[in-house]
Amino acid sequence: MCGIVGVLGDHEVAPILVEALKRLEYRGYDSAGIATVNAGRLDRRRAVGKLVNLSDLLVHDPLAGKSGIGHTRWATHGAPSIANAHPHRARRVAVVHNGIIENFRALRDELVAQGAGFESDTDTETVAHLAQVFLDQGLAPREAAERTLERLEGAFALLFLFEGEDDLMIAARKGSPLAVGHGEGEMFVGSDAIALAPLTHRITYLEEGDRAIVTRAGAQFFDDQGRPVNREIRTIEIDATRVEKGGYKHFMAKEIAEQPSVMGDALRHYISESGEIVLPGGGIDFTRVSRLTMVACGTAYLACMTAKYWIEQLAGLPVDVDIASEFRYREPPIPEGTLAVFVSQSGETADTLAALRYCADKAQRIVSVVNVPESSIARESDLALPILAGAEISVASTKGFTCQLAVLALVALEAARQRGTLDAPTLARHIEDLRSMPGRLNAALATEPRTEAIARLLSEATDVLFLGRGAMYPLALEGALKLKEISYIHAEGYASGELKHGPIALVDNTVPVIVLAPHDRLFDKTVSNMQEVMARGGKVLLVTDARGAAEAGEGVWQCLAMPEVPELFAPILYALPAQMLAYHTAVAKGTDVDQPRNLAKSVTVE
Ligand code: G6P
Repeated sequence: MCGIVGVLGDHEVAPILVEALKRLEYRGYDSAGIATVNAGRLDRRRAVGKLVNLSDLLVHDPLAGKSGIGHTRWATHGAPSIANAHPHRARRVAVVHNGIIENFRALRDELVAQGAGFESDTDTETVAHLAQVFLDQGLAPREAAERTLERLEGAFALLFLFEGEDDLMIAARKGSPLAVGHGEGEMFVGSDAIALAPLTHRITYLEEGDRAIVTRAGAQFFDDQGRPVNREIRTIEIDATRVEKGGYKHFMAKEIAEQPSVMGDALRHYISESGEIVLPGGGIDFTRVSRLTMVACGTAYLACMTAKYWIEQLAGLPVDVDIASEFRYREPPIPEGTLAVFVSQSGETADTLAALRYCADKAQRIVSVVNVPESSIARESDLALPILAGAEISVASTKGFTCQLAVLALVALEAARQRGTLDAPTLARHIEDLRSMPGRLNAALATEPRTEAIARLLSEATDVLFLGRGAMYPLALEGALKLKEISYIHAEGYASGELKHGPIALVDNTVPVIVLAPHDRLFDKTVSNMQEVMARGGKVLLVTDARGAAEAGEGVWQCLAMPEVPELFAPILYALPAQMLAYHTAVAKGTDVDQPRNLAKSVTVE
């Protein structure tokens, strides 16, 4: 949450900062701002709301300078306002920050007592005032920044810019990601490599506790004890076309449509031509694993819940699935033989990272399933399994989810192979079925016009229920999550069999009930639950296949027929109607689909 960027350039820097912030807007869009040093003079511009407001402001009130920092905000301390927008500044220093300074109240009291005048409600402003105190004591910018950092508790990626210093930025990382980009006589800093992609592909990631002293001549890196350290420069290839809308109205629409192709990429990466599963880095020895603990947040958590059905059923391994923010403070015992698996699209989610570190401290082997291969979670894992979905920009995860499912399905099949719980022909059939998924996803996408028509009706509702049984239960939760996060319609997902234990009280003829029910071995059971809804006047949208529609489609409010899919992998395919329903409902309601209110894509605070 919050994106930060810095440039020591050889051109006017304001437009470059704004372009880079555009690529970070997925991290927050409550306000945006930039600061520059021009002929030694520090100045800033800030605007509330989306980045476009800052761009407009800069047209009327430009900001000159070839050195600058910028920020796009997801509010934690203090409402979205100009005063609370970054960069924050004291007299001779400006800072941008991603994270939370946990001891800011004590620091603020101390600084106010020394006469500092605060303008904002933020934790970040303390950092600027603290640095100013050290500058006033006669310390050089580098020492002032160092002394400031020593006083800070919490999590941060910070970037300092100083009055009178046209050729200096100081970056620091503790808990929040930060990357330094190397150009030709220019240097860059950003929250991620995507922000810097058009500027340079040569990236150094700061390690935990690192500081970087950046000038146009290059960057020097120091660890948290101030010792000089070498940090590798990597060449990061980011496909720029995956960060553009490519003719679609929204990134979400593009990312939904991309699913057959990116899943094809992921499957080709993990399945050899002869049909064997190949996990990188020596894979996982499942003969030594007796249980799995899977930890994640949001949609990634629901991918883990789905994988639990697969891994338990196919490989006979018990699986615990945990929400990262709960796991990290519960201090759960990790018995011998546990494999800890962390799933995260961004690879930067603060709670998931903290849960990973908890397990790493217990000498666990860490496996992660991530989309961003250079992310903190990937880099701190013993084995990172990339999902290869390409940049996902829309805040609501779509292709990230289905590619997570595809990789987790492969993990389940590989576990089953090693443990001998599936015979060779059955295993080969499942792998072939998985390989057929991109084609089936294409067929599911072809139902979009019908989904759109139903979504227009759904957009009238104020409450919606999703039901699913077995591995369709996590998908019911995902369908409800998607719908609520982008259309703001209240939605809940339930296990079909649980309906009569409470939620059925909500059913009346104003509450659409979306039943996710492929014609599988649990179909009759789910249909019974659906009948219970209809008997109480509920309006059912049955999402099923041709057989399901023929058997149970009569009398329902709406029926949406999906292509046939092997039972095991139905959750992957049925994710698409759930996504399309949410998308078109949000479009019908006119909400901001890609950047829904109050949310951010990369949640780097607790
Ligand atoms: C946020 C996003 C979700 C995402 C969740 C976990 O809430 O809006 O789409 O599922 O974070 O993110 P991660 O990057 O760890 O998968």
